[in-house]
Amino acid sequence: MDTFTLANQVEIPVIGFGTYKTTDGSDCAVVRQAIEAGYRYLDTAAFYENEEAIGQAVRESGVAREELFLCSKVWRERMGYENTQEDFESTLEKLGTEYLDLYLIHWPRPKDLSVDWKPLVLDTWRAMEELYLAGRVRGIGVSNFLPHHLNYLMEHTSILPVVDQMEFHPGYIQKTAVDFCRNLGIQVMAWSPMGRTRVLKEPFLMELAKKYQVSVAQLCIRFALQCGVLPLPKSSSLERMRQNLDVFGFEIERDDMYQILTLPQLGWSGEHPDRERMPAQVCGE
Ligand code: A2P
Repeated sequence: MDTFTLANQVEIPVIGFGTYKTTDGSDCAVVRQAIEAGYRYLDTAAFYENEEAIGQAVRESGVAREELFLCSKVWRERMGYENTQEDFESTLEKLGTEYLDLYLIHWPRPKDLSVDWKPLVLDTWRAMEELYLAGRVRGIGVSNFLPHHLNYLMEHTSILPVVDQMEFHPGYIQKTAVDFCRNLGIQVMAWSPMGRTRVLKEPFLMELAKKYQVSVAQLCIRFALQCGVLPLPKSSSLERMRQNLDVFGFEIERDDMYQILTLPQLGWSGEHPDRERMPAQVCGE
């Protein structure tokens, strides 16, 4: 698979497999199928409680560890220097690996919005910088950070995150955050690149997909790539996993890109880093 090059020169597959809620407890069959379908970048998090299943899938796949790209994240309620050190070790143990390819801060702040996120982020990052400098992880980054969180981090630390993983799909392109990252050379990754199934039913996207003779899901994944964003599609079916990787045989024309980029908001997950979770009727879920 093609790769993007991160700011620290590490190569990363241009499409990853998202695993949030794709595994059922200890069941590793879905992840094994994803590897079989051709995914080499597996994206997990301590919060997903599937690291053990992923570790098992990796072992059973027979694919060499160096050919895979494993990313995990420290949970928002476990931020802080010692917690991060501890949880990193637990993640490695569960995945059954000696190192991670990428380790991220999952959210910039805990759920309790009255807690001061700033010292927590700095303490977490200090632990991550140490892990990176000790060669235990090939890259460190963040997830769901907006420009003001990144600014604070940059003003107080010396190593820049190499990635920022955030919700991104047609109708929710987070232009300000994406442009901010691009200007700093931070690779943006898209969780929910097709906005769950909601975006798949959008009439204009359905029409456009017909024009390119692809599915709306493929259109969304290709759209992310043409924006320079690394998509992390999830699926529980081998056929759709394969379909979501089959996005290199067409190119969205410039004017169609503009039309997707200027679509009205199509709803979003309701998960905003600085707010309470939005109720479904507000975010269009
Ligand atoms: P399924 O597991 O049945 O394939 P997102 O990653 O944007 O949150 O979206 C995940 C959802 O999209 C899952 O419910 C998944 O369902 C569905 N999905 C994934 N790939 C496709 C596809 N190619 N066509 C239709 N639905 C898809």
